[in-house]
Amino acid sequence: MNQAHPTGDFDGLAALVTGGASGIGAAIAALLRDRGARVAVLDRDPAGAPAGTLPVKADVTSDEAIRNGVAEVVAEFGALHTVVGNAGIGAIGTVEDNSDEEWRRVLDVNVLGLVRTARAALPHLRAAAAERPGAVSITHTCSIAATAGLPQRAAYSASKGAVLALTLAMAADHVRDGIRVNCVNPGTVDTPWVGRLLGRAADPAAERAALEARQPTGRLVSADEVAAAVAYLAGPAAAAVTGTALAVDGGMQGL
Ligand code: NAI
Repeated sequence: MNQAHPTGDFDGLAALVTGGASGIGAAIAALLRDRGARVAVLDRDPAGAPAGTLPVKADVTSDEAIRNGVAEVVAEFGALHTVVGNAGIGAIGTVEDNSDEEWRRVLDVNVLGLVRTARAALPHLRAAAAERPGAVSITHTCSIAATAGLPQRAAYSASKGAVLALTLAMAADHVRDGIRVNCVNPGTVDTPWVGRLLGRAADPAAERAALEARQPTGRLVSADEVAAAVAYLAGPAAAAVTGTALAVDGGMQGL
């Protein structure tokens, strides 16, 4: 049991976090590790995987790479209980701005990446659920873009709307397998992703202030705050929670 998190509510569990080498995914991987899980980080660039996690290099656009990655994790940990589908990319523009190719790229990573991850993991999750009822889950990092109309984010919002619907459909399909499926809907989170966005802005300070003002709390969400929500949804306290989208958005959607 880790001293920093004496609850150790993930003790004995094995977790896989996609896109876990940066930002929100890295915060999730570190928190699950601190709560007692053995954690694998599947990322196309796993160099930033938190210390004490197992880095697995794979791109979620490759079915074969994900299958091999999941097999590697199960071989190392002996089981898989917790899957966090978090890898994602952005796209800026209206429907007039993005090409079919750009649309396909965003949907391939953000939606099909989750489908491929689940397809590879489900046989192992089903087996784990039989042994640890209530402890097995899939959690997706969706976005408030799934439910709020954001300007200049047509392809990204469509991809996250699909993630929300996918989450609900998977929750229905796998509830009898003992596998819970939920998602978090973050507002704007202070991660390297947003740093890159601000770096490209004409006036980064003004752009940051606009992003902060968009959220009623007047600040960006932290990656740790999103990780805490994911750990709740994936953990034993949420054993009765499936098919839920939990907004962590500074009140953006609800107020
Ligand atoms: P980030 O860019 O800091 O981290 C994303 C990670 O995913 C990186 O480690 C990257 O290497 C990995 N990745 C990207 N494409 C991949 C692929 N094809 N295969 C394997 N790994 C891949 O981004 P951030 O901000 O941590 O975002 C993580 C998730 O959170 C994404 O799904 C994003 O849509 C979602 N999100 C982010 C928000 C934000 O404001 N930062 C708000 C709402 C949702």
